[in-house]
Amino acid sequence: MSEIKALGYLGFSVSDTQQWREYAENVLGVSVREADNGDLLLRVDSYAWRIRLKKSDHDALDYVGWEVSDKQDLESLKQRLTEQSVAFATGSADLAKTRQVKELITFTDPDGTPCEAFYGPLQLTNKPFISPTGFRFVTAEQGLGHIVLISKDHAAQEAFYTQLLGFKVSDYIDTEVVPGKPINITFLRCNSRHHSLALAPVPIPAKIAHIMLQVDNVDDVGRAMDAAKKADVHFSFTLGRHSNDEMLSFYTMSPSGFDVEFGWGAIEVDDDSWHVKVHHTNSAWGHKFQRPPRK
Ligand SMILES: [Fe+2]
Repeated sequence: MSEIKALGYLGFSVSDTQQWREYAENVLGVSVREADNGDLLLRVDSYAWRIRLKKSDHDALDYVGWEVSDKQDLESLKQRLTEQSVAFATGSADLAKTRQVKELITFTDPDGTPCEAFYGPLQLTNKPFISPTGFRFVTAEQGLGHIVLISKDHAAQEAFYTQLLGFKVSDYIDTEVVPGKPINITFLRCNSRHHSLALAPVPIPAKIAHIMLQVDNVDDVGRAMDAAKKADVHFSFTLGRHSNDEMLSFYTMSPSGFDVEFGWGAIEVDDDSWHVKVHHTNSAWGHKFQRPPRK
C-alpha cells in the first residue's frame, strides 16, 4: 500500500518573481521559463517543470505534488482515501493540463497542507534540461528532493503520511532547536532517498521549514556557496553534514522566506536492511544557525 513513489513537484505563491528568478538561476542553478500565464517554471531534469512559482501579493506553499506510478495506483490511493473518509477531489482536465500530468487528485493533510497525487508527468527530452550554472541534480527515482513541513498536529500528520499514504519512517531526530524546548522531527521516505518529507513540530507560525535540492558532486555545493555569497543571499545554516542522511549541505533563505537546502552525498536507504534510528543532533558537524538580518 504505498502508491506514492516520489516527491514530484511543488507549487508556491511568491511576491517577488524577479528576485526568485535570479535566486533560482544564479544560486540554485535551476533553469527558469515563463509559462503563458506568467508563472515561473523551474526545471532540474527531464520533467517539464518541478517547481512552479505563481506571482502573488504574498508568499505561500500552494501544493505538494506526490507522484504515483500509473492510473491503477492512483485508483487504489483514491479507494483508500474513500475508505478512510479522507476527502479528495479529482483534478479537472484543465488542472491536469496546467500541471502537465495525465491525471491527478487533490486533498489536504491533517495540518491543511494542500496535497496532490498524480501520474504521467510530461517529459521534455526534446528540450534537455540545461543548468545555467552547469549543475546536475540527483532526481530520477528519488524524485525532486525533500520538503520539511512545520507540523502543528504532529501525531496526526505522522499517522496520515505513514498509515494512509504509506511512507516509511527512516529515523527521528530529538533535539532542541530552541534551548529548553525539545522537539522530535520525523523523517519519512517513499523511495531510496532517505527522506522525501520530514515533519518538524517547531512552535512557529510558518508552514514550511525548507526544501532540498541535491547535486551529484561536492564541488557544485562549493560553487553554489560561492554564488550565494556573490548574490549576498542570507545563509540560514552554514555548511555542515547531517547526522541522519549524511547530506553535506548549506541552507540559504529563498526570496519567500523559507530555506533551500543545497546538498550532496546523502546516503540511499535499502528497505531490506534499514532499521529506524534516533539521533540527538541535527548534524555531525556544521549547520550553524545564522539569524536573518533585520529588514
Ligand atoms: Fe533537509
